[in-house]
Amino acid sequence: MSNVLADRRVENDWWKEPVPENVSWGEGFYLETAQSFRFMRSKLPMAITFGEHVSCYAGCSFALGKNGSCSVGDFSLLNGVMIMAEERIEIGKHVLISWNVGIADSDFHPIEAAKRRQDTMALAPFLKDAPPRPEIRSRPVKICDNAWIGMNAVILKGVTIGENSIVGAGAVVSKSVPPNVVVAGNPAVIVKEL
Ligand SMILES: CC(C)(COP(=O)(O)OP(=O)(O)OC[C@H]1O[C@@H](n2cnc3c(N)ncnc32)[C@H](O)[C@@H]1OP(=O)(O)O)[C@@H](O)C(=O)NCCC(=O)NCCS
Repeated sequence: MSNVLADRRVENDWWKEPVPENVSWGEGFYLETAQSFRFMRSKLPMAITFGEHVSCYAGCSFALGKNGSCSVGDFSLLNGVMIMAEERIEIGKHVLISWNVGIADSDFHPIEAAKRRQDTMALAPFLKDAPPRPEIRSRPVKICDNAWIGMNAVILKGVTIGENSIVGAGAVVSKSVPPNVVVAGNPAVIVKEL
């Protein structure tokens, strides 16, 4: 059972578009609105996979670049997460993600000012002969099973959140977190062992 219908539209949705073809889900998937895929640009054949009994509420957004992919394990609950994947963001099983959480596997713009300047021009919609976008490295992100990410937290490129660990509200996580700890603050540090 799922509230996504056979034509890939969500039951009673206010958003008229269907769920993109390269998104798959398991038994018991709940999706509040297909609007969550409005920034979805991935061209991969299996770009997003949701496991069984995943819940995905209206605050969620999947902003995937053309080579981006994301997987969400069984029984994970996504309340309002912005997933920004140029490469890969993996969310395990029984993970809780709260409101207004950002998870990104890239910085999306270069560090060097000259390249960033080029990037602003590359991204100007009406500029004639715009330069190409400079190359930007991505680093996959992984949220392991049973993790809990508090509201307004930000998880940056290359980070793994270990099994059972908790990220406190408002934390900015720039380095990987081991299993069975609580992290909080900006930059996030371990505040408790579980
Ligand atoms: C600021 C930023 C661009 C720096 O990237 P970077 O130069 O690769 O930085 P690094 O990952 O090498 O981190 C350098 C140090 O700063 C810390 N750090 C990095 N970003 C941080 C952040 N946002 N908040 C707090 N500390 C941060 C790192 O922990 C590291 O600390 P250390 O010196 O003790 O080891 C990046 O971390 C960031 O915040 N990216 C998000 C950009 C964004 O919002 N993009 C959205 C689309 S516009």
